[in-house]
Amino acid sequence: MINQLLFTIAALQARAIAQSCPSLTATYPTPSVAAGYEARLIAQGLQKPRGIIFDNKNNLLVVERNVGITSFQVDSSGSCVSLKNKKTVVGDGTLNHGIELTDDGKTLYASSLESVLKYAYDSNSQTINGQGEVIINELTTQGTVTRTLLLARKAGNKLLVSRGGDENIDLSSVDVNGGEAQIRIFDPTKGKIAYTAGTTLGWGLRNAVGVAENPHDGGIWSAENNADNIERDGFNIHENNPAEELNYHGKLSDANNPLLNKNYGYPLCYGVWNATDIPSAGRLQVGQQFAITNENSTNQDAFCNTDRQAPRLVFQPHTSPLDMKFDGKGENLYLSLHGSWNKQDPVGYSVSVIEFGADGQPLEASTSTNALTPILSNSNTTGCPGFCFRPAGLAWDRNGRLYMTSDNTGEIYVITKSGGKALDESRPAESAASTSSSYSAVGLFVGVVASAFAYFL
Ligand SMILES: *[C@@H]1O[C@H](CO)[C@@H](O)[C@H](O)[C@H]1NC(C)=O
Ligand SMILES: *[C@@H]1O[C@H](CO)[C@@H](O)[C@H](O)[C@H]1NC(C)=O
Ligand SMILES: *[C@@H]1O[C@H](CO)[C@@H](O)[C@H](O)[C@H]1NC(C)=O
Repeated sequence: MINQLLFTIAALQARAIAQSCPSLTATYPTPSVAAGYEARLIAQGLQKPRGIIFDNKNNLLVVERNVGITSFQVDSSGSCVSLKNKKTVVGDGTLNHGIELTDDGKTLYASSLESVLKYAYDSNSQTINGQGEVIINELTTQGTVTRTLLLARKAGNKLLVSRGGDENIDLSSVDVNGGEAQIRIFDPTKGKIAYTAGTTLGWGLRNAVGVAENPHDGGIWSAENNADNIERDGFNIHENNPAEELNYHGKLSDANNPLLNKNYGYPLCYGVWNATDIPSAGRLQVGQQFAITNENSTNQDAFCNTDRQAPRLVFQPHTSPLDMKFDGKGENLYLSLHGSWNKQDPVGYSVSVIEFGADGQPLEASTSTNALTPILSNSNTTGCPGFCFRPAGLAWDRNGRLYMTSDNTGEIYVITKSGGKALDESRPAESAASTSSSYSAVGLFVGVVASAFAYFL
């Protein structure tokens, strides 16, 4: 009798939660969500939302390309999240992707094609004080437009800035002094300097849009978007090569970092995804690097594997990893895969995860073709990119929920474990004071009591 009653209450609670949570509907097929996860579309109508970050008051800041930076307040309980009070923080249409914020919420950084800017930010009012100050410039390239920013928190807030090359295969990037296709390290407290005045962390990186720091050990990782339409010995092999790459750059705090200033291959060497498709592949295997020249490429493969730094993991060609965020313990790395255009069957178009071990390295071997596990995907990729969302930026809120922007559809999603539970349990749970309602917690509690009664009665 009592357990029956409690079950009914629990069911009613669950229904109340479902009904009271406002939901938005996508114009494309309902996304697939892996077992054990939940995803919810919480914002539409943004202008190409790219990089996102939470401030220290749990406001969400979004770079809207050609608009600037806008903020939202988060209204939430469990997986029922809504965004409200949209506000312009920086009205600057040149800002197009990168965003960073110091943990004290006071200094905001953003990037344009040409510059990295710094702003004095107030998280109480979501406003900036005065104008942005250009701290790094001379970043313009002919091809790539994003300049990803990462504050390396385990290394005293050094600022990493990633910059791609001028064109698909930019031969000028064989010269490190050109400053193209590389990641450089800056002291963001210093005034205006040219990009090439930064310390080179890594080069030969075609377009390393994803850059992340493992909070467990301070290891720096980048995700490289590799070349399109490549040929080897006169054969077009773009369908299954080259691989997208996850590259390791060591720890900035390590004064003798053996990976500092290493060259990762581009524009001479490229990651193998499918050796079967590569002419004269010899003994090349997944995760090694191969050369592309008009003839006799094989002669150069040895150079690629001895003189160039190999990727730590490879992903299917053209999946386009744009952002990467570790969970608080460095056990999982979440990636947004923007998706392909240079491939017959669309691939990518998902948020996926890579497992990391206590040694700060991925669990999968460098020869693996299974490193990525999708969590949120388009359910019908035949229609991509036209009828699909395209993941761009990722950010954690203070409750361990992961937010994802989709630039082509102007949307934001939130991803949790089932039942609205934290995806990153190491992040502090939402305090009662910051929650607008707590019906979800009550529902869960009643559910637990009901199960206990069911067991004993
Ligand atoms: C590699 O390419 C071959 C030949 O095109 C194809 O049969 C095979 O399925 C591909 N393997 C993978 C993992 O893509
Ligand atoms: C390619 O290899 C063939 C056979 O070894 C050789 O005759 C030819 O000169 C080579 N071509 C180039 C451009 O090195
Ligand atoms: C998938 O999308 C394509 C292209 O938009 C469409 O033609 C096809 O009917 C869709 N398939 C399913 C199973 O809905």
